[in-house]
Amino acid sequence: MKVVKTIPELKEFVQTEKKAGRQIGLVPTMGFLHEGHLSLAEKARKENDIVIMTIFVNPLQFGPGEDFERYPRDLERDEKLAASAGVDCLFVPEVEEMYPQPSIITMTVTGRADKLCGEKRPGHFDGVATVVTKLFHLTEPDKAYFGLKDAQQFAVIAGLVESLNFPVEVIGVETIREEDGLAKSSRNVYLTEDERSKAPHLQKALQLGVQTAERGKKSPAEIKQLTNDYLQSHAGAAVDYVELLSYPELEPLEKAHGKMILAAAIKYSKARLIDNIIFNLN
Ligand code: PAJ
Repeated sequence: MKVVKTIPELKEFVQTEKKAGRQIGLVPTMGFLHEGHLSLAEKARKENDIVIMTIFVNPLQFGPGEDFERYPRDLERDEKLAASAGVDCLFVPEVEEMYPQPSIITMTVTGRADKLCGEKRPGHFDGVATVVTKLFHLTEPDKAYFGLKDAQQFAVIAGLVESLNFPVEVIGVETIREEDGLAKSSRNVYLTEDERSKAPHLQKALQLGVQTAERGKKSPAEIKQLTNDYLQSHAGAAVDYVELLSYPELEPLEKAHGKMILAAAIKYSKARLIDNIIFNLN
């Protein structure tokens, strides 16, 4: 596996592979890799000739007071894991490499970004769209892989590609979980022992909400209330939001019908966790 830190080195790699007619799969990450990230890399490995993974903790997508400085980092371990998942090229730029001067242009996402996490983290998806645009230009991927654990992020990136005609196919990958149902996340290391034991209730609450929706008698407001009540009494965390919206448009629903997302975010002492279930009702 080739590890590159600069844009010229990356471009040289990309140009060589493109000229040879090889298909490139891109897996953007912020590192501190876990099995969720690796499942994206493994899927990219199966579907492309070349896999490029990027590790970049993107300051643009962190708000004031969020965890940019203390975001967990372990490059040595990440390099080994990326290599074991079949990554051909690992791009690990410094902030100065990606943003050498204040950008005169950044992306602004409308529509899908003003709900859920976007409402709670203003500017977050603008930062994601900006860095993903740069990464698409730098790596010229045929396919790019994103996890559905961050379902709103996937909806925003799918919208970005569609709106601006990026010549890339974006592929959503199912959430990888711990045995007790907690979605794998780099931020799980922030949890105390007690919080870790309660955190699986996030997924349980969402399952309860979806089962309620499937029984067909409750309104979106009642489904959200039930999910919220379960979280309040079991998760031992502050509930940031519980939402039931259409997916991927993320519009409010009068009735639980069609393709939907039930999503929640909860806050423990040092970690904010998100999870969701995407489901269909006819
Ligand atoms: P990060 O949180 O490191 O996640 C990188 C990719 O891994 C994302 O597409 C995310 O959805 C996916 N992922 C995370 N946990 C997962 C899990 N348990 N199962 C499956 N996939 C999972 O998301 C970001 O970084 C950044 O916003 C980024 C897209 C890299 C832009 O900076």
